[in-house]
Amino acid sequence: MTIHIDHHPDQNHAGDEIVEKNQGNVKEQETEHVLDGGFVAPHTNSFGHTFRDYDAESGRRRSVEDFYRTNHIGQTVDFVKRMREAYGKLNRTEMSIWECCELLNEFIDESDPDLDEPQIEHLLQTAEAIRKDYPDEDWLHLTGLIHDLGKVLLHPSFGELPQWAVVGDTYPVGCAFDESIVHHKYFKENPDYDNPSYNTKYGIYTEGCGLDNVFMSWGHDDYMYLVAKENETTLPSASLFIIRYHSFYALHKSEAYKHLMNNEDRENMKWLKVFNKYDLYSKSKFRINVEEVKPYYLSLINKYFPGKLKW
Ligand SMILES: [Fe+2]
Ligand SMILES: [Fe+2]
Repeated sequence: MTIHIDHHPDQNHAGDEIVEKNQGNVKEQETEHVLDGGFVAPHTNSFGHTFRDYDAESGRRRSVEDFYRTNHIGQTVDFVKRMREAYGKLNRTEMSIWECCELLNEFIDESDPDLDEPQIEHLLQTAEAIRKDYPDEDWLHLTGLIHDLGKVLLHPSFGELPQWAVVGDTYPVGCAFDESIVHHKYFKENPDYDNPSYNTKYGIYTEGCGLDNVFMSWGHDDYMYLVAKENETTLPSASLFIIRYHSFYALHKSEAYKHLMNNEDRENMKWLKVFNKYDLYSKSKFRINVEEVKPYYLSLINKYFPGKLKW
């Protein structure tokens, strides 16, 4: 079976209708869903070039559905707590925000030479697109730059976590999995699904407890949130909110889990909606001159972060 992941530059998260079609004897699956890790490579890029074939073990051409099956089975309260505990120690390395951008850029390029756009360009395109429309919100420009840096979890020096524990849509654990979550049916195989402490509307939470107090499925979002918070960034709470929930599509798209939000969350939600338009649509073809914009972003990093951060 050949699995194609169609790359739609303006749709990197949800909207993953998988269409199966038969072409002679070869059954193909096409999907508009491209995982947010940059590791699920499209079969052809936007210039029409065909990608190299990868062997089955590489996993790059696994279907999105397969990805979510593994994700939904593995993301338990216990798993999330262990990940937060382990990565929350921030004892792996020290580096600046810009060094992390470069690290992400290098290794994602290395592992997937067919990607038509370096990771740093996605970060800068998001940031620059926001900057154009919201010139005075410098914190939002910087949020654009750093929102995906947690993907370093895929790097060998960060434990080389599997994709299902780094990218993709996120959702709360510790309460019932909302039906609007993509490929919901696979939660039936998650050990928490039948646990009466975790499978009710509120589960271990209370009404209006605030999303800060909710365990989210583990991935690059929560990790980067921890890094920013623990390194005492002076970015506003809306920025931390964007970083932690930018893949929480059940909330942005379906308004699920609103009963867990508090007033601050509702305020911050407005900014997340602004941000998400840019995260999705900035994946266009305008090129960024990295060296040209770098001084501006270094000044923002300097304003909101210490020189070296613990990771
Ligand atoms: Fe992301
Ligand atoms: Fe992103």
